[in-house]
Amino acid sequence: MTNIEIVDTTINFVKESLKGAEGGHDWFHIERVFNNAKLIAKSEQVDDLVVNLGALLHDIADAKFHDGDETVGPRMASEFLNSIAVDQKIIEHVVLIIENISFKSSLEKKGRRFNSPELQVVQDADRLDAIGAIGIARAFNYGGFKNRELFNPDIQPNLNMSKDEYKKSTAPTINHFYEKLLLLKEKMNTITGKKLAENRHQYMLGYLDQFNQEWNGFL
Ligand code: ADP
Ligand code: NI
Repeated sequence: MTNIEIVDTTINFVKESLKGAEGGHDWFHIERVFNNAKLIAKSEQVDDLVVNLGALLHDIADAKFHDGDETVGPRMASEFLNSIAVDQKIIEHVVLIIENISFKSSLEKKGRRFNSPELQVVQDADRLDAIGAIGIARAFNYGGFKNRELFNPDIQPNLNMSKDEYKKSTAPTINHFYEKLLLLKEKMNTITGKKLAENRHQYMLGYLDQFNQEWNGFL
């Protein structure tokens, strides 16, 4: 298969696998991350096939929706890529990207902690989709999916949670902005990612200001 055929076959596989997925993790999330990744990759020295496949397969089976099992996604991706006879080196790199795109404490134990320019591009692309107007929509969609409150003035954001505590937290969705989304701008890896994040960050600040004013009856 040519690289274009590999990517097209992967697109079809991902679309099929994500049928019925929650709105923030559905095919359109993958499509946006794929497009962001291609845009960012233009200014980076990376293997485009690895970036494309990493973006397309990064949420193929998110542990959040598989009883916390972090091995399902990497395994599905690897089985699929093997089934279409992709080069082993590429498969291993893509699997490492899926495992490492978001923090997982278990990686240390397994000796699977990894970084690469390709991972950094896909990670920036995924982070961009968590901020700005789309990030706001995804946060409230996720909060609704988890039956969270929108906001509760009696529950303050907690900036000192460990990553594992954070996963178990049932705090209102507005807290997620202060605990995570507003911190993403500083974590961007690439210059293009940083630029795009800045605009989306400002939009979220404006949104939170408006939200607070409406909540308090000032507008
Ligand atoms: P991804 O699965 O895309 O790598 P995450 O799993 O961290 O990223 O989050 C997916 C989306 O769900 C993001 O838009 C994120 O803001 C949102 N989300 C995750 N946790 C929460 C939460 N506790 N409250 C609200 N939104 C959340
Ligand atoms: Ni994602």
